[in-house]
Amino acid sequence: MALASTDPTTTAAWKKLQQHHKDTKEQQLKELFASDPKRTHNLSLKWNNFLVDFSKNRITDETLNLLMRLADEVQLKAAIQKYFDGDTINETEGRAVLHTALRAQPTDTILVDGKNVVPEVYKVRAHMKTFSESVISGERRGFTGKPFTDVVNIGIGGSDLGPAMVAEALKFYKNHLRVHFVSNVDGDHVREVLRELNPETTLFVVVSKTFTTQETLSNATTIKKWFLRHAAQKDIAMHFAAVSTNTEKIAEFGIAQENVFPMWDWVGGRFSLWSAVGLSIALAVGYDHFESLLEGANEMDRHFKTTAFDENIPVVLALLSVWYNNFYGAETEAIIPYSQYLSRFSAYLQQGIMESNGKSVDRKGKRVDYQTGTIIWGEPGTNSQHAFFQLIHQGTKLIPTDFIGFKQSLYGETDHHQKLMANFFAQTEALMNGKTEDEVRSELQAKNMSGNELQKLLPFKVFEGNKPTNTILIEKLTPRSLGALIALYEHKIFVQGVVWNIFSYDQWGVELGKQLAGTILKDIQGSEISDHDASTMQLLQSFKK
Ligand code: F6P
Repeated sequence: MALASTDPTTTAAWKKLQQHHKDTKEQQLKELFASDPKRTHNLSLKWNNFLVDFSKNRITDETLNLLMRLADEVQLKAAIQKYFDGDTINETEGRAVLHTALRAQPTDTILVDGKNVVPEVYKVRAHMKTFSESVISGERRGFTGKPFTDVVNIGIGGSDLGPAMVAEALKFYKNHLRVHFVSNVDGDHVREVLRELNPETTLFVVVSKTFTTQETLSNATTIKKWFLRHAAQKDIAMHFAAVSTNTEKIAEFGIAQENVFPMWDWVGGRFSLWSAVGLSIALAVGYDHFESLLEGANEMDRHFKTTAFDENIPVVLALLSVWYNNFYGAETEAIIPYSQYLSRFSAYLQQGIMESNGKSVDRKGKRVDYQTGTIIWGEPGTNSQHAFFQLIHQGTKLIPTDFIGFKQSLYGETDHHQKLMANFFAQTEALMNGKTEDEVRSELQAKNMSGNELQKLLPFKVFEGNKPTNTILIEKLTPRSLGALIALYEHKIFVQGVVWNIFSYDQWGVELGKQLAGTILKDIQGSEISDHDASTMQLLQSFKK
């Protein structure tokens, strides 16, 4: 069954939230804390090894009540059921959205067109296990009999970002295999990666859900040619594997049947790292860690599916983001992990969030007249503090920020970790408290400054504060906690799509880019340039000269 379609702005809760925003927008977080000793306790959620403190948000109990009512009015509960049940909620492509089935328990039954897909998922997982373990152990070897030392993942978008982000995030758990990622159609990218490789000891994994993506096929073809300069056609069977729904095209490419890992059209590219798209992850960290990643995600799935909205982490974080996006007019959100391992996390979420909820037509096909998907950005702390935090602290824009940190460091570098986390806590505190004129004055006076000199400097050193943040504090970065963290954001995307009444699981905007590049490529390669606007024409002529 399809998702219900409710224009959120017509709900009673939305109208009340508009009024509530007018009434409360000048409220100061500091005062909210001062007037309610239980605020932190009431506005925090503890789940497994996660502590999610959302008390530093510009909200009251009333705000939360209204946001929960909004969730009820857009029928979020029924929508969650349809999402997990495999209903065709990706209506414009006529597909179910079942990345949750990829991490389901073996005893679960999830029907797609009347067929339980869970056994098939486990069959592919078993294949991933034997394949990855034989490569890691050295049992499976290259064409000259040497064990593999390197793996190259060839894919783009969801066929690259998820595996690349997780392989980096779980570097601590890595084995001896070096894993590389080739994504951009920029030939310099592929050449730089090939430069480091020995064809005798390199395994290539071509990942493409459709197996028609220009970038991936170009890179795979270039790499195959390079490989064949050193090896024979028959050796491809030992060195190339593929992950795709398009088995026909894989066969055309020449990849041996036993190295083919199927996936399904009910898995969206940007949510596919849990499928065989994650083969490079299993190769990098071993299948058992890959499985723990999936188990962590499954735990978050169960939390999301069964927990009351006011205690449900993805629901609460999604609604808070709606509060800022649609009532405060905040356009962007920063996600700042205080872990170098998560250096690709924001880039990964950019695809998940912006490709999903960057839509302007509602589920009835009508142009929306309210804001939808937020712009996501971020880099790890503390580097980001020395780059763009200035704007978050003292700029004119409101930027709600998620801070993600871990209690334990993996190598046990206590001194470093304490400094890292001191920054983590200091930033959310400073963003909330700011610094008043009086505080700045006292500070300057303590430095023996006075008179005109003090007055002149004073306004520049004032921080307004009152900047909202969420703090996600997790015990330790493990495959399991990472799986849960990724799933948390996946479900946040879903909830927001339901509230905004859009289809989160298609990506027609990206498809357009693919078509247009095809037309212009003909102009570049041919003798004639077809009809374009004057600017594009000039650029093409200049490029071809
Ligand atoms: O970026 C658009 C997109 O369609 C993504 O959804 C997908 O992850 C990516 O292209 C790659 O597609 P494929 O896996 O089919 O090569």
